[in-house]
Amino acid sequence: MTSFPRDIETWINGLPYRFPTDRPRTLLEMLRHEAGLTGTKKGCGNGECGACTVLLDGQPVRSCLVLAQEAHGRRITTIEGLADKHTLHPVQRAFHRVAAVQCGFCTPGFILAIAALLQRNPDPTREEVMEALGGHLCRCTGYEAIFQAVELLAPGALRAPSPGPPQGRRPSADPSRPAVRPTPAAPHEMQPEDHPPQTRNPSLDEVER
Ligand code: FES
Ligand code: FES
Repeated sequence: MTSFPRDIETWINGLPYRFPTDRPRTLLEMLRHEAGLTGTKKGCGNGECGACTVLLDGQPVRSCLVLAQEAHGRRITTIEGLADKHTLHPVQRAFHRVAAVQCGFCTPGFILAIAALLQRNPDPTREEVMEALGGHLCRCTGYEAIFQAVELLAPGALRAPSPGPPQGRRPSADPSRPAVRPTPAAPHEMQPEDHPPQTRNPSLDEVER
């Protein structure tokens, strides 16, 4: 039987937090309603949209599916903690540069998922980018601009998947994410031929500040 701590002690965006364990709630609810970090969005509330994505010990998780108690002793990064003080994170700068945002509701989840992917794999293939973003839904910008932002940072993002069985490193699975397939529109919009050729692929540090 799982035993939970008396208090939830966690680090959020580098700062220590302590929360009571007086009631069950999700990590999403704790972040938004108790820590006041409303950059983490609640969309579907059942693991299907990716809007609530945060990093738990550096791995993207859907916070609507994570119990608050599971954050005990762990480090959380929300969108509020991604920038380095007054300097946006390279993924944030890339989104800004190609205007990969409209309403912005999905944006924190996409940015955190991409940041985590590039942290563990700086040169992912397009197939790996699609896998990392599988199940992240955007209802207004569409996926083309989001992929253009990734392509600014990852030169291999336009590489066609290699034939045959998958090879090389694979991104680790998000343990909180159920086996959810993207909506039919998502993979169609994310086909390589939909994208204009890129003329330059600056590194993370070269994306304009
Ligand atoms: S709100 Fe968590 S996946 Fe949609
Ligand atoms: S920017 Fe509006 S849902 Fe993605």
